[in-house]
Amino acid sequence: MPISLATSFTSLDFVNPFVLASAPPTESKRKILKAFEAGWGGVVTKTIGLHPVENVAGPKTIYQRASEEKPYVSRTKRPDTVSHSSWNWELISDQPLELWLPDLEEIKSTYPDRMLIGSIMAGAGGAEEMANWQKLARACVDAGCDALELNMSCPHMDRKDMGAHIANDEDIIRGILKAVTEAVDVPIWVKLTPATSTLVDAAGAAYAAGASAISLCNTFPSLPLMDPETMKFEVEVDGYVTSGGQGGLAILNQALQRVSDISRAYPDQAISGIGGIKGFHEAFNFIVHGAGNLQVCTAAMEEKGSGGVGVKLIQELCSDLGAYLERKGMSSIEDFRGIARERIVEHSKIRRKSDAYNGGYQAEAPVDQTAV
Ligand SMILES: Cc1cc2nc3c(=O)[nH]c(=O)nc-3n(C[C@H](O)[C@H](O)[C@H](O)COP(=O)(O)O)c2cc1C
Repeated sequence: MPISLATSFTSLDFVNPFVLASAPPTESKRKILKAFEAGWGGVVTKTIGLHPVENVAGPKTIYQRASEEKPYVSRTKRPDTVSHSSWNWELISDQPLELWLPDLEEIKSTYPDRMLIGSIMAGAGGAEEMANWQKLARACVDAGCDALELNMSCPHMDRKDMGAHIANDEDIIRGILKAVTEAVDVPIWVKLTPATSTLVDAAGAAYAAGASAISLCNTFPSLPLMDPETMKFEVEVDGYVTSGGQGGLAILNQALQRVSDISRAYPDQAISGIGGIKGFHEAFNFIVHGAGNLQVCTAAMEEKGSGGVGVKLIQELCSDLGAYLERKGMSSIEDFRGIARERIVEHSKIRRKSDAYNGGYQAEAPVDQTAV
């Protein structure tokens, strides 16, 4: 049986399902061209906005590693450690839209067979902000982007009408999608934050309002660790930190749960899986929960000698997926996509040691203590 790594996702043809996520690996023309040369099927650009960006006066990203020795998880370099996670408080792209546009044109004309997805973000405080979404959308599409990813998930915004804050508000989600779908005619992916209890509803609102896919997850809001000896945070500016985002292997299981929740609620809709993908095993796990597209950030950034775009990683992902399909007699990821959906059930459906499962309730009505 001929095997194919090619996938169709939101009506776009990908040479393989592996995409660099919106982040430092996709922050410049130079890096994106290098990524395409290495073999990535697509990239989502670092998020482009219209608001001025000034990053913190210190490291924007740290990499935490785990070891059996103390300290267990730390950014401190030690022998015999493995990657645990990234932690960052980096804002969206500081390259203005005007400089991005000629870069996007050149990238698309150099690699017409690779998918270029423009990540954009504006506010939601009124008509002017909706016009900003439209301006960004039109400009990126005119410059050659095949699709857009709307960033409704940046965890670093104080503004309550931007980033992760708006993923809790279905009216705002609908409003932004209305503005963007009126402005352009390309597939619209919506990147949501995992940090909301209303994720499935937010995804439903986005799909109903015209989103072609949900991208999930952005980083999980989190704090860096404090070193007990120095009593300093492992990353800080003038002794202060604020909530940042965790990515990498440490978020894999949580990201899978979120993707599964959405995929089971909307099995006919597209979902792009992100969070902790380091190789084929993690990618496989997103696909079985329904993801038709995989995005990678931390593992690409961590790869030494690749300029932070995961040159070896994309080669391994493609060859390991190809070898797997061949070994299993499958022709594409569609042969196993979503197979886990029906095996995620409610607690009460899992066999118990004894017959009864009371779901946390007492089996009998509690004794009325006042009657004693
Ligand atoms: C340093 C850094 C910067 C990021 N910047 C953005 C961004 O501008 N827009 C966005 O949508 N996601 C951004 N992300 C989130 C990633 O795209 C991705 O969703 C997240 O890191 C989880 O994937 P991973 O576990 O492969 O790292 C950033 C992540 C990191 C580590």
